[in-house]
Amino acid sequence: MKNDSAVALDALLARAADALRKAKRVCVLTGAGISAESGIPTFRDALTGLWANFNPEDLATPEAFERDPKFVWDWYEFRRELIRQAEPNPGHFALAELAGRVPRFTLVTQNVDGLHQRAGSKGVLEYHGNILRDRCCVEQVIAERSEDSRHGLPRCAACGGLLRPDVVWFGEAIPPGPMLAAAAAAESCDVFLSIGTSSLVYPAASLAESALRAGATVIEVNPDRTDLSPAADVVLGGPSGLLLPRLLDALS
Ligand code: APR
Repeated sequence: MKNDSAVALDALLARAADALRKAKRVCVLTGAGISAESGIPTFRDALTGLWANFNPEDLATPEAFERDPKFVWDWYEFRRELIRQAEPNPGHFALAELAGRVPRFTLVTQNVDGLHQRAGSKGVLEYHGNILRDRCCVEQVIAERSEDSRHGLPRCAACGGLLRPDVVWFGEAIPPGPMLAAAAAAESCDVFLSIGTSSLVYPAASLAESALRAGATVIEVNPDRTDLSPAADVVLGGPSGLLLPRLLDALS
């Protein structure tokens, strides 16, 4: 026999599935939590090993890079390696499948790890860029590394300028393409799913607020409560790798 909390979760999954079944437009926002079960630590988890004493908010800034590009690059190389070794988890795969079950589907991610794409999601809006790409600081375009980049700092093959990871740092603007497309999707959706995000970092966190204002059903998936939880219509409290496949089952 199921206990009370299992029965309550089943009821919440059924409510969420019902909203998805009726929806014409679905917008999803994911954060670091969806990749936690792939072994990538969330931002607000303590960093481990070599980087345990550093705060990401002090490393992921233009000022930190200007001060000490080698130090910031070392941190990014460490994270790139972690991401290269990681695999998408059942939460990523469930979202790739959900896209085919609703008429219009937009996936916005704050993650820079590319795991949604590796799980088969198409047209992902990368709100904070992608850690696996390099961008030229001079030309501001995605760039290849020059041959001699093996020694010292990575340099642009075309112009020799310093390269940086193609991510959005604290204090920097969101790339206009993903920002406008995400805003339009959030404002016009019937169902908005907020998955694995602390809902603390703006402007990403404002997408759920736009969806709420527009009257969408807002569903949150997170083992912990967030600032969004009190306003959400359905709060699925648990890990996304477990609950998103169950949501798909409830939809069948
Ligand atoms: N499933 C779902 N959610 C989870 C899981 C899990 N298995 N594990 C943890 N979480 C939740 C946490 O409870 C937390 O609410 O994921 C959230 C992660 O929050 P943050 O670390 O703040 O990540 P995020 O919201 O993506 O941060 C936004 O801040 O540091 C910047 O640019 C960075 O994109 C990042 C942005």
